[in-house]
Amino acid sequence: MKEKLKQIKEEALKQIREAGAPDALNDVRVNILGKKGALTALLKGMKDIAPEDRPKVGQLVNETRQEIETVLDGARKKMEQIIREEKMKEEIIDVTLPAKKNSVGHRHPITIALEEVERIFIGMGYEVVEGPEVETDYYNFEALNIPADHPARDEQDTFYVSGDILLRTQTSPVQARVMEKGKLPIRMIAPGRVFRSDEVDATHSPSFHQIEGLVVDKNITFADLKGTLAEFAKELFGEDTKVKFRPHHFPFTEPSAEVDVSCFKCKGAGCRFCKGSGWIEILGCGMVHPHVFEMCGIDPEEYTGFAFGIGLERISLLKYEIDDMRLLYENDIRFLKQF
Ligand code: DAH
Repeated sequence: MKEKLKQIKEEALKQIREAGAPDALNDVRVNILGKKGALTALLKGMKDIAPEDRPKVGQLVNETRQEIETVLDGARKKMEQIIREEKMKEEIIDVTLPAKKNSVGHRHPITIALEEVERIFIGMGYEVVEGPEVETDYYNFEALNIPADHPARDEQDTFYVSGDILLRTQTSPVQARVMEKGKLPIRMIAPGRVFRSDEVDATHSPSFHQIEGLVVDKNITFADLKGTLAEFAKELFGEDTKVKFRPHHFPFTEPSAEVDVSCFKCKGAGCRFCKGSGWIEILGCGMVHPHVFEMCGIDPEEYTGFAFGIGLERISLLKYEIDDMRLLYENDIRFLKQF
């Protein structure tokens, strides 16, 4: 019996010495001390021992068990200590390494231009509203006096979601959406993304931004339109900026005009920037067409109004003297950081 115990102890110590990981130590515990372990098996053999010897043998077995447990615990602690030390070494922090810099982003020049335009109109008492980018043919064209087959549709080919649902080609549909609600008077701007199936080049992109403006009230005249846009141009490009209204045609305004501002680089003398003319085109505008009023349920005999549409990229390119629109969409932080 003693011999057997010694054997078990030696085997246990050997296994403990050879164990390379805490899991292996656990296996030793199970193999020797566990329910089906060698030492337990020995205890089960007690019935074959003479009753008077049993207490002694029992004591011996217990002593052996205790010894093995002590060695096991010691080995486990040592092993854990080594693992902890290795982990500490791995996780050591080198305080002499340079710190990670948090790179802060930068507002996009289109956003800067938009916020500037919004600031100017909010200052004049305008409300900022939004309309959907996915629009119906009705709001994008019909309600703006552009029926099917109208030649104005040629210039504004777009992406169709389905027959009557399309990506809006202009922010003008927001005019109809706001007027339809019937809350008068109206003084709003509606900035947003618009789409056209145009090829990408220095001045075109299939997706760009506009800011629509609309004022509807009693006794609104073309003089109000002129005064408003002249003030806007001065705030945006400088106090000595002049505006010029050139007659134009838009289906949803009558009369309509395109607005040029005096070149803020050469003050109108003519330079490369304004292609020698002294003027730079910045927007389209006009008096709301009576037919548009009628379609939106507003009586054109009682109310008049003006509308305008500004190309946001164009404003941003002009203001920051960027000569290629594609630069705005590349999102190269080295470029964007300059504004
Ligand atoms: N929606 C026009 C376009 O995309 C721009 C425009 C012109 C808007 C005249 C207006 C306006 O509100 O009155 O070409």
